[in-house]
Amino acid sequence: MGRLQDKVAFITGAGSGIARAASRLFAQEGAKIVIAELKPELGRASEQLVSDAGGDASFIETDVTKEESVKHAIQQTVSRYGKLDILYNCAGGSVAQDKRVTDVDMWVWQHTQSLDLLGTFLCCRHGIPELIKAGGGAIVNMTSVAALRGSFAGHVYVAAKGGIIAFTKALAGEYAQYGIRANAIGPGLVMTDRVKQRFGDTPDAPAISPQAQAIKAQFKRYPFSVGEPEDIARVALFLASDEARMITGAILPADGGLSAY
Ligand SMILES: NC(=O)c1ccc[n+]([C@@H]2O[C@H](COP(=O)([O-])OP(=O)(O)OC[C@H]3O[C@@H](n4cnc5c(N)ncnc54)[C@H](O)[C@@H]3O)[C@@H](O)[C@H]2O)c1
Repeated sequence: MGRLQDKVAFITGAGSGIARAASRLFAQEGAKIVIAELKPELGRASEQLVSDAGGDASFIETDVTKEESVKHAIQQTVSRYGKLDILYNCAGGSVAQDKRVTDVDMWVWQHTQSLDLLGTFLCCRHGIPELIKAGGGAIVNMTSVAALRGSFAGHVYVAAKGGIIAFTKALAGEYAQYGIRANAIGPGLVMTDRVKQRFGDTPDAPAISPQAQAIKAQFKRYPFSVGEPEDIARVALFLASDEARMITGAILPADGGLSAY
């Protein structure tokens, strides 16, 4: 019996990175997976990956920044699988153009707040009523080490991920009465394709900026602070599973201790 046997999980951004790894892992543990992804080619590839491994996954084209799209994706989930048990709000990320507050272009605010904070908010807005109907469930949100310490000069991303911390605690406080747990993970640097590109770790990556160089150097000081997508997917699996039934309102750093010392 898998750790998520017969659960239905809605995973945003599951066409790549951490969420794609989580789709594979959750499916291995018996969950039915909805790959809620913006880019059809990525979403379908993840669907195939899970199916090839013997899992049950459906790609549903979703833009987490658009309320109608999220509403439709949740409806599709329930009509396909009959219920929703796990909401893993993983779509997000910072852009290389993010800077300190006095320097950043305001398009970065619009983009990042929409994707990270509004996206998480909208998925909860439409997903929680289904978790309640299912008799309870688990929400896993994504914050970042960037919001756990004051050392990251991408101030738009920090503001969005800080919002997710406060929002997660408020969700936990309000929806515990319905048997819903809400937690967030704060990863350090995770070597997804997007991050490798940003930090110059792929052959076609552009020249690395001084800001990215400084970030990379900082992470290199800490022995466990750079991880693989599977490292974070395993943390999400634990929080999504009944093994974490005593844990709600928690912000769990998965940053190799970077935020602790
Ligand atoms: N990778 C890291 O180093 C790191 C560190 C800390 C926190 N995080 C957080 O972890 C989460 C996942 O990061 P990742 O590096 O795996 O991301 P990623 O860039 O590898 O994947 C993000 C996925 O989301 C999809 N997406 C983009 N916009 C979308 C939208 N509007 N609607 C639906 N899907 C959309 C993308 O197409 C992509 O498939 C993010 O919330 C990120 O902020 C990542």
